[in-house]
Amino acid sequence: MPASATETHFGFREVPLEDKQALVDGVFHSVAGRYDLMNDLMSVGLHRAWKDALVTAVNPPKNDRPFALLDVAGGTGDIAFRVIEAGGAGTRATVVDINGGMLAVGRQRAEKRGSGAVTFTEGNAEALPFADRSFDAVTIAFGIRNVPRIARALEEAHRVLRLGGRFLCLEFSSVDVPGLDALYDLYSFNVIPALGRAVTGDAEAYRYLVESIRRFPRPKAFAAMIETAGFRRVSFTPMTGGVVALHSGWRL
Ligand SMILES: C[S@@+](CC[C@H](N)C(=O)[O-])C[C@H]1O[C@@H](n2cnc3c(N)ncnc32)[C@H](O)[C@@H]1O
Repeated sequence: MPASATETHFGFREVPLEDKQALVDGVFHSVAGRYDLMNDLMSVGLHRAWKDALVTAVNPPKNDRPFALLDVAGGTGDIAFRVIEAGGAGTRATVVDINGGMLAVGRQRAEKRGSGAVTFTEGNAEALPFADRSFDAVTIAFGIRNVPRIARALEEAHRVLRLGGRFLCLEFSSVDVPGLDALYDLYSFNVIPALGRAVTGDAEAYRYLVESIRRFPRPKAFAAMIETAGFRRVSFTPMTGGVVALHSGWRL
């Protein structure tokens, strides 16, 4: 736990709460251009299956019924593009992210696809630049553990969701399978920073990634935070032995 309410952690380091965002921004500015490639390499493609599970849970309508998704900390737009592909003609997605470098990669991807259904907006998960109750679903994938004030981001997700809308959060979790946990630690602390150095030139960014996963609340504790933010019917589904979990809550 951080030493005081004005401190938090950046990976395994304790830092003043107000310093964390700039440190996180430095990480994602550094890796933005290689971020998508690194996801595939690091997770040996598994992130695609985890994201597919998220998109299945979003369940956008297949017809032309209007459906508005907000993907918070959406980075290069991976979740947004997948939801647009899964949905019908009425599906629209807004990606909000604090990092202009990640959004720039996302905009290039959208241009290549010729897709106007995804909008990219710079903004902070802790103070979303959107009206109350303006989205049918809010997602956040591998983003929440980077946000300094997680409780505030959850409250904001709840505020912008319409009544009856669903919040879905995909995040690294806690591996509890004997044997797999030791293997996972070995892979995380040795292979991932080395891979990060080879592909992006920045081993530290990927050391932060691994450490931040270990500092993230265990799934039951995180589910309790989602409930405190006002969500109902809160649940979570561990995947790949607990490497990640898909958390869900409804605004009712
Ligand atoms: C690991 S990436 C995840 C990107 C994308 N969701 C995905 O699954 O590929 C984490 C993202 O969180 C963003 N982020 C960090 N702090 C944020 C904040 N306070 N508000 C919005 N986005 C934030 C970073 O800029 C980065 O793009």
